[in-house]
Amino acid sequence: METTHWIVDKQGITHEHYPQIEEAARLIRKGEVIAFPTETVYGLGGQVQMDKAVQKIFTAKGRPSDNPLIVHIADRKDVDHLAQSVPNYAEALMDSFWPGPLTIIVPKQEGVLSELVTAGLHTVAIRMPDHPVALALIKEAGVPVAAPSANRSGKPSPTTAAHVLDDLSGRIAGVLDGGDTGVGLESTVVDCTGPHPIILRPGGITQTDMEAVVGKVKIGGALQNEKDVPKSPGMKYTHYAPEAPLYLIEGTHSFIQEQIDELRAEGKKVGVMATEESEHFYVADRIISCGRRHDIESVAKHLYGALRSFNVSSLDVILAETFPSEGVGVAIMNRLEKAAGHRWIKEVD
Ligand code: TXA
Ligand code: MG
Repeated sequence: METTHWIVDKQGITHEHYPQIEEAARLIRKGEVIAFPTETVYGLGGQVQMDKAVQKIFTAKGRPSDNPLIVHIADRKDVDHLAQSVPNYAEALMDSFWPGPLTIIVPKQEGVLSELVTAGLHTVAIRMPDHPVALALIKEAGVPVAAPSANRSGKPSPTTAAHVLDDLSGRIAGVLDGGDTGVGLESTVVDCTGPHPIILRPGGITQTDMEAVVGKVKIGGALQNEKDVPKSPGMKYTHYAPEAPLYLIEGTHSFIQEQIDELRAEGKKVGVMATEESEHFYVADRIISCGRRHDIESVAKHLYGALRSFNVSSLDVILAETFPSEGVGVAIMNRLEKAAGHRWIKEVD
């Protein structure tokens, strides 16, 4: 299959006709799958009612069929068709954070979606993305769009159209290229089926952001204890990992350099994921900065691109600096822990 690459100017999206988006929406209505930018990462969209379209998403990504998809909407009224009931606190979260990087899980209305979207669950994940291209595509398609991140399963999520094409060229009908995404990490997923919201996947909207609106917000058990079975099926899979094994490393720059030197003395090629502040401290086979430590949002934005760029050099091991688990740092460390399979090297003081 030939994958069409449509360049779209996201500032120009308010014009009446946008032939690339019209064409992509036509293909979605027909049951094809299209990658599109959102404010978090690129998504791979297919229409929610057609089994054939949803199956194509799973096949293109190589995604396990027990991992449900997020339904993307452009109109808040669609929640009424998709959900059986919505607690007041979830309405308040939508009021405050939509459109935006927050995914809400609520009991689903039976018979509305392809069963493949929800992977047999009785709940549905819904989000309204804050991106003009995504919103225009969903509106033009005239139907909600099921979309996981547009990467091959197990790889870091794509934050540019080039990442999408690296993973999925020849496997999908097209990609709408709206440039770099904004946040750089996937949306916060919050379970809204109980008395209080529970965060299942940390993201751009933090626990503190939500607590300011709805009071108590809990953290899902699986995020606190590795042995708990995650309620969000996707959280149990290895994710975001570059090809060489990754270790999280914590300590002074000189401690980190000693570890690099020891590994290189054993003949290993060593990559280091550093920051703009620290990259000049190290000598290694490849050093990549994932942003500015003093601007944690810049790290979220560049993390996946940095993880992907290690794959161009053949390395034996990658050492990654860590970040404080506060604010968006919680989501950064959640993704880094997964990429590392929870392997740490720590300086003992
Ligand atoms: O920012 C994002 O959320 C991006 C963009 C494209 O919108 N999408 C995304 O989708 O990250 P995906 O499929 O890569 O991750 C969706 C997560 C998975 O961990 C999945 O298991 C969980 O949401 N999920 C989906 N439906 C669920 C449900 N009904 N109950 C619990 N977890 C659910
Ligand atoms: Mg994903």
